[in-house]
Amino acid sequence: MKITVVGAGAVGASCAEYIAIKDFASEVVLLDIKEGYAEGKAMDLMQTATLNGFDTTITGTTGDYSKTKDSQVAVITSGIPRKPGMTREELIGINAGIVKDVASQLVKHSPDVTIIVVSNPMDTMTYLAHKELNLPKNRIIGMGGALDSARFKYRLSEALECPASDVDGMVIGGHSDTGMLPLTRLATRNSVRVTEFLSEERLSQVSEDTKVGGATLTKLLGTSAWYAPGAAVSSLVQSIACDQKKMFPCSSLLEGEYGLNDICIGVPVIIGKNGIEKIVDIDLNDEEKAKLKESAEAVRKTNGLLE
Ligand code: 2OP
Repeated sequence: MKITVVGAGAVGASCAEYIAIKDFASEVVLLDIKEGYAEGKAMDLMQTATLNGFDTTITGTTGDYSKTKDSQVAVITSGIPRKPGMTREELIGINAGIVKDVASQLVKHSPDVTIIVVSNPMDTMTYLAHKELNLPKNRIIGMGGALDSARFKYRLSEALECPASDVDGMVIGGHSDTGMLPLTRLATRNSVRVTEFLSEERLSQVSEDTKVGGATLTKLLGTSAWYAPGAAVSSLVQSIACDQKKMFPCSSLLEGEYGLNDICIGVPVIIGKNGIEKIVDIDLNDEEKAKLKESAEAVRKTNGLLE
């Protein structure tokens, strides 16, 4: 399985690293526009192969899309990351042009590719890729919810004072500081609802901390995070490459599901060899439905800036 990662910045390189370490792909091509950068990152990563014990070949290229030919999966991380104090939505002007160009180049060289969009504002960039490429809707996936859910589980494990592996939970809605909807009502610790262990007040703190998960890191790091985003992408790529049919919340083009149409927003989906194989329509309560609707309105507003 050949995988392309566009953008050899911190997120792209972490993503390539995790894919290699998980050792399920034959080849990863890293592409960047900065002269020599992707080649350098690829070489550095390849020098970890004997140390980390993987057989995946990682190569780099400066903007030569012919090297990405016949990729089964491609990840778009290109564009500028946010700086402290910025929202993801503020990146739209620059990133929209970049994502449009990258997406068309990818499909030109790999007509059967499944695309994972990471660039921000992620839901709008996923929608843009759909509009631009007109591919079957299962083949364009927005990454946000997989990352936000990992951050939610981290915050839950902190509140529960337990290992993260004890915790399960999901974040749906838009990948934005205000649009995320951590499903605290449904989160569990070993099958027991977390509402049994945590007060409403503590759970609402967990939700708030989850929603500003990216912003908190941007403030600490001076730029946006990369380890968890890279790991989240690699899990999606693995689910496609190994046809795992795992369920993740991902930004998906909705056609009536959750009462929404013509929008990409995070909902639970099954990810397998055909990309999004199924959108899982779960029962939300009235409060959750209202919050998802509000989140969708905000995403639509950002989508409106594309015109
Ligand atoms: C984040 O939340 C990159 O949007 C991404 O860290």
